[in-house]
Amino acid sequence: MGAGALVFIGFMGAGKSTAASTAAQRLGGEAIDTDALLEAELRTEIGAYFDRHGETAFREHEERVALETLARAGERDAVALGGGALSSARVRAALASHVTVFVEVAAEVAWQRVSLTGADRPLARDREAFIALHGARQEVYERAAKAFLMQGANLIWALEHLLALRDGRWAASARLVLAASASGSYPVWFGSGLLAGGLRHAEPDRERFLVSDETVGRLYGDRISPVAAKLLITPGEQHKTLAQAEAVWRWLVAAGATRASTVVALGGGVVGDLAGFCAATYQRGIPVWQVPTTLVAQVDSALGGKTGVDLPEAKNYVGAYHQPALVLVDPAVLETLPPVEVAAGFAEVLKTALIAGGELWSHVRHDRPLDELVLLRCIRTKLGVVAADERDSGVRQVLNLGHTVGHAIEAATGYARYRHGEAVGLGLLAALRLSGADALRSEVLSLLGAHQLPTVLEGVETDIVVAATRHDKKRTADRVPFVLLADPGHPEPGREVTDDDLRAAVAELGA
Ligand SMILES: NC(=O)c1ccc[n+]([C@@H]2O[C@H](COP(=O)([O-])OP(=O)(O)OC[C@H]3O[C@@H](n4cnc5c(N)ncnc54)[C@H](O)[C@@H]3O)[C@@H](O)[C@H]2O)c1
Repeated sequence: MGAGALVFIGFMGAGKSTAASTAAQRLGGEAIDTDALLEAELRTEIGAYFDRHGETAFREHEERVALETLARAGERDAVALGGGALSSARVRAALASHVTVFVEVAAEVAWQRVSLTGADRPLARDREAFIALHGARQEVYERAAKAFLMQGANLIWALEHLLALRDGRWAASARLVLAASASGSYPVWFGSGLLAGGLRHAEPDRERFLVSDETVGRLYGDRISPVAAKLLITPGEQHKTLAQAEAVWRWLVAAGATRASTVVALGGGVVGDLAGFCAATYQRGIPVWQVPTTLVAQVDSALGGKTGVDLPEAKNYVGAYHQPALVLVDPAVLETLPPVEVAAGFAEVLKTALIAGGELWSHVRHDRPLDELVLLRCIRTKLGVVAADERDSGVRQVLNLGHTVGHAIEAATGYARYRHGEAVGLGLLAALRLSGADALRSEVLSLLGAHQLPTVLEGVETDIVVAATRHDKKRTADRVPFVLLADPGHPEPGREVTDDDLRAAVAELGA
């Protein structure tokens, strides 16, 4: 058997058929669309067959056609697999010898596309039922997927990475998220043990300049080899400064970094933000790899291209948007992360789950283990938001849920008293109070407590925190917009709150 075909899976309206025909054309093989095969075999539209014979009879045909297709598809072929075919365990098992690519689509977008085609699809006659089915099917696609093609990612670009996966250039455990944004696309490689397998094969022609901190560099620095030079900074938020950035720039000069070099940021959000900013500005910009080693960085900071440093006055006040050339997430490195740092990461997971709602929120609210599927969901949630709005002009602001007060707490306490995630946890409590979501606030408070995260603000006056919120980067004129959330999955960016309400929400944290 060869390396297997590319098999595109996902909900109706995702664009599987187009993806398969584009891929097959490039690979010089056959594009096989199982829905089209079925219609030809049944000699009628799927909707008409469904109505006459029922879903069970249809699924039997669908399973057989899918199994026959997967048995014959070779490495130059590309298959578009009908949206419901994965309900069969035999089909799911047959996918193991292929590269399964989940073509992601938002429920509303899928509904609009399917409505526009005018084709009679039996499960797309009622909008509510269609959207519920979209949610219900996500998990089966997620579990089967080796690769995730985010909405908006260009398939021609993606093919190079899909073929690297198909041809076994990455460890067998590797999964791939193909991320898109206005200023560029990049692969996010994900899997336990990826770093242990070494990275020699990745972009071998570029010299690597490794930036890490002393703790992470000692633990994992050798996994990035070969590197041209290595710089280890002192760990901690207090070192995410302009002075430290200058030290990195000057080290890059001394070590001989050129535009043909890549900066590799190995560490938590501090290293990622700092090294990313230095890469964005060194010689007006050279590529950066983000290799996140904390939970905060794996689910959040390594993704989306925000880089920067703090000023004493305010957090992340100087920076640049600079999308990574590659992100490598190896959850195995979290084994050495101290429990307090894992807890801080849980606050960002919680924030992401509140924004996403649905299955992710349901998983997190019941405090189920943060397995790889959950990390991947957080990653895809963040990438989905960034794809829609890279530069924070609208929907991306939802990612700042809890951050207006969180950042103010960090700045007002000199970046020393609270970890970023801990401050975000407190900020979430304030945001939920401002949203009038009292029951949800109590639930979040219990979850923070269960993870030994602070639920009481200490060591700083309410007025100092309130004053610090005025430096929020989203501020326009005299107004600081807040992200409010009354219901998980429905964040509302750009909301105004009164000074009195804000003061009360912050004062309550100190109570
Ligand atoms: N750019 C963004 O979009 C974005 C998003 C969220 C947070 N951030 C930023 O991220 C920063 C916080 O990042 P963080 O929470 O990762 O903190 P961090 O980078 O300070 O790391 C926390 C500590 O964990 C240690 N560590 C890291 N990985 C380890 C490992 N695998 N094993 C053992 N020790 C390890 C580090 O040495 C450090 O002492 C903040 O500056 C925040 O502003 C940025």
